[in-house]
Amino acid sequence: MVRNIVILTGAGISAESGVPTFRASDGLWCGHRVEEVATPEGFEANPALVQDFYNQRRRQLALVEPNAAHHALAKLAAEWQHGEVLVVTQNVDDLHDRAHALTGTADRVLHMHGELLKARQIETGQVSDWTGDMAPDGDVRPHIVWFGEMPLDMERIYEALAESHLFLSIGTSGNVYPAAGFVQEARRSGATTVELNLEPSLGHSLFNEKILGPATEVVPAYVERLLNGEIKII
Ligand code: OAD
Repeated sequence: MVRNIVILTGAGISAESGVPTFRASDGLWCGHRVEEVATPEGFEANPALVQDFYNQRRRQLALVEPNAAHHALAKLAAEWQHGEVLVVTQNVDDLHDRAHALTGTADRVLHMHGELLKARQIETGQVSDWTGDMAPDGDVRPHIVWFGEMPLDMERIYEALAESHLFLSIGTSGNVYPAAGFVQEARRSGATTVELNLEPSLGHSLFNEKILGPATEVVPAYVERLLNGEIKII
């Protein structure tokens, strides 16, 4: 019997690696208005400020490591025998990618909000790998989906949701659409829905089960139960 799993992750899964979340009081937006650093209009108005903001985030990636939750999902992707596993992340860090590279499952991760380690040519839209700083007056911008822009890989994500049997939402507050609506898509296809988060998200009532706690504790424990056949997926 095929049992496909789609996993949505947000900033909470990287919090214990030392990457700040967005909406905590000391969060990433603190000190900046979202419009300033996460919109095309903000970039046009002040490219130096925006490039500096993402240059700092990109440099910070060298100082952080995937945690037990990232590694547990990479293990699940490698060892799940009953169907497909797809991780859809809103995070622009590369912590899932690093963990999945270790289990040979890097192609199981989609970055719907873009990636810090990629650059986009402003004129042509061409995307390339990028590890250093970006200049305020250069011809590339961060490959990040800003507010008002279209998230990436949506067709593939909705296809996977339509064929999913288990939907997990990990470390996301449920504030930002379309990601916050994935749970409803999954329910429509009959999937069991489970939230693993530090606190109930905005859409918590749409989940069949809620497991509250830090990601590095609750995610590895849940993955072990899945791999041991202890969780019944309808
Ligand atoms: P938020 O900062 O909105 O939410 C983070 C969630 O993680 C909250 O519900 C926290 O309770 C939870 N959390 C914090 N620490 C945790 C831990 N150790 N273990 C488990 N959960 C924890 O971040 P997102 O929901 O990811 O978009 O934000 C969504 C999008 O909003 C981001 O991708 C970004 C932002 O605007 C773009 O940049 C396009």
